[in-house]
Amino acid sequence: MIRLDRVGKTFRGRDGGAVEALREVSLEVAAGEFVAIVGASGCGKSTLLRLVAGLVPASAGAVTLDGAVVRGPRAETAMVFQAPTLLPWADVLRNVTFPLRLMRRADARTEDEARALLAVAGLAGFEKRLPRELSGGMQQRVAICRALLQAPRVLLMDEPFGALDALTREEMSLELLRLWTARRMAVLFVTHSIPEAVLLADRVVVMSPRPGRVVDVVEVGLPRPRSFDQEGSDEFQRCARRIRAHIFGGRGGTGDGARAA
Ligand SMILES: Nc1ncnc2c1ncn2[C@@H]1O[C@H](COP(=O)(O)OP(=O)(O)O)[C@@H](O)[C@H]1O
Ligand SMILES: [Mg+2]
Repeated sequence: MIRLDRVGKTFRGRDGGAVEALREVSLEVAAGEFVAIVGASGCGKSTLLRLVAGLVPASAGAVTLDGAVVRGPRAETAMVFQAPTLLPWADVLRNVTFPLRLMRRADARTEDEARALLAVAGLAGFEKRLPRELSGGMQQRVAICRALLQAPRVLLMDEPFGALDALTREEMSLELLRLWTARRMAVLFVTHSIPEAVLLADRVVVMSPRPGRVVDVVEVGLPRPRSFDQEGSDEFQRCARRIRAHIFGGRGGTGDGARAA
């Protein structure tokens, strides 16, 4: 469904300098698949999501969605950014329903669905609050609800739980998995957390430091539904060790038995 074919991205600075963020990235994500992306800070993970979202053009190669080249934002794609990006003047409920109203897809059920999602995210009773009256973690949960309400076929999440405390983070991960199981959209999920990537994803894409390339794709064989109890399992440990070896253990190898483990 989503296809990146030898995608490169180079940013040109105002001083004429160039930053090569991504090089020859090829990746396919099937409809309904959950793919996590991990890699060092600055390796181009956010850039990769922006390319798929149609927010920036590729410098080389092509990004396609259902075979069509992505040239701009599309209605079937929703994105959750690293930092919550809410409209400061609109209350929580209006923030969550904003994209659907903008796209003229809001109907009689929209508000009820928004309230239900907010309740799941622990935000019942906050519908009429303004963003500045909420903590950073709560704002991010509003942004996640806003993306989910669009019922996207492609959900792009850029370290969405980074601002949340550990407990809320676990709760939101499991809730995301429940929603994904019910709706089966394709998810591209960027995270710093190797355990989070393994727990959530069907496959974990490991990227090299800048310029970002795909150095490994780890298939996670854990059965679903997933739970944090699986962190102790052999399969979980195998996946986590292999990813860690790429990130901390220098170059090459499959990572099995590498010193970073
Ligand atoms: N709009 C931009 N203009 C110039 N350089 C950028 C821009 N966006 C990202 N970069 C650079 O591209 C590289 C990758 O950035 P990013 O995708 O944000 O990495 P990550 O999300 O993995 O931390 C970084 O070196 C960053 O400074
Ligand atoms: Mg980033």
